[in-house]
Amino acid sequence: MNILVTGGAGYIGSVVVEECLRDGHKTVVYDNLVKGHREAVAPEAEFVKGDLLNGELLKKVFRQYEIEAVIHMAAYSLVGESVQNPAKYYQNNVVAGLSLLDAMREADVKKIVFSSPAAVYGEPEKQPIEETDKLAPTNPYGETKLAFEHALRWYENAYNLRYVSLRYFNAAGATQRCGELHDPETHLIPLVLQAAIGQRSFVEIYGEDYPTRDGTCVRDYIHVIDLARAHILALKILDEKSVIYNLGCGGAGYTVREVIETAGNVTNLEIPVRTAARRAGDPAVLIASSEKIKSELGWNPEYQDLRLIIDSAWQWLRNHLQNSEVKYTTST
Ligand SMILES: NC(=O)c1ccc[n+]([C@@H]2O[C@H](COP(=O)([O-])OP(=O)(O)OC[C@H]3O[C@@H](n4cnc5c(N)ncnc54)[C@H](O)[C@@H]3O)[C@@H](O)[C@H]2O)c1
Repeated sequence: MNILVTGGAGYIGSVVVEECLRDGHKTVVYDNLVKGHREAVAPEAEFVKGDLLNGELLKKVFRQYEIEAVIHMAAYSLVGESVQNPAKYYQNNVVAGLSLLDAMREADVKKIVFSSPAAVYGEPEKQPIEETDKLAPTNPYGETKLAFEHALRWYENAYNLRYVSLRYFNAAGATQRCGELHDPETHLIPLVLQAAIGQRSFVEIYGEDYPTRDGTCVRDYIHVIDLARAHILALKILDEKSVIYNLGCGGAGYTVREVIETAGNVTNLEIPVRTAARRAGDPAVLIASSEKIKSELGWNPEYQDLRLIIDSAWQWLRNHLQNSEVKYTTST
């Protein structure tokens, strides 16, 4: 297929692009580089620098590359920032997203895979979280992503758009070329590794009094390669139906302390830690049930083990720091 990946210069997008190319798809990246890195885009992919709000450019790109499906990953995704500045999130995650959908409609592109977050569930009533569970976002980030999911449903109803919404939990890990480099960084594994090498003086643990096995929050980490492979499967099901899938690794998840300990073992370095009060709105446990995508699409995660995930992120970070050729510039 000819595929357009919005946000394909970002962390997960750059790995999705690698998997699309590996699966034999002609792949075009569309990214304004507000957060992404041009160097992260595989050289075999086409790259167009553009904003989702530029509907005319999108239509031109759809026609020029005869795009058949879109993987839509471009968004803002900082929970705290979304609370401080909801307008920024409604503008990019909803208004700009609708600009993409309308350009698709006008160019007759009928298939889309969308990156949604666990944040659409808010504070869940049960674990593991299933796709049919209550949707109650507690911040504008989750709310704007859910609004876009709702738009997909109505666009399908009226315009025969086919969609797969993939609700990711915590993406982590790296491939040989692509790793996580957000600015600011808010995700636990890169923060812990940065603390290990002294790029930050400590890593903070928010709350040690949760009802979990060691008092710290439990989260579900999914290797970015397993996540990217789910997109390839999602492209295939688009021929049959629209559907929503959770994507995590399930099981017992990992506590914050377990992540820090494993990172200490992988790096063989001491990781300075500080404990702080709980953050408002942080549920004790967030675990996905990924049974639906496993049974319907045969998704079979290969890198579930936390050590493998952290090891890949660690290898990438070390190469990234050593090799000036892959020294990405930070964007904000
Ligand atoms: N990282 C996670 O753990 C996680 C979890 C759940 C969902 N998600 C979702 O997955 C997607 C990718 O996440 P990520 O961590 O790779 O983020 P990222 O910030 O690394 O990548 C997003 C990319 O989108 C681009 N972009 C943003 N707005 C744009 C616009 N208006 N026009 C064109 N390009 C634009 C940015 O430049 C960047 O390259 C996001 O939609 C995010 O909400 C991520």
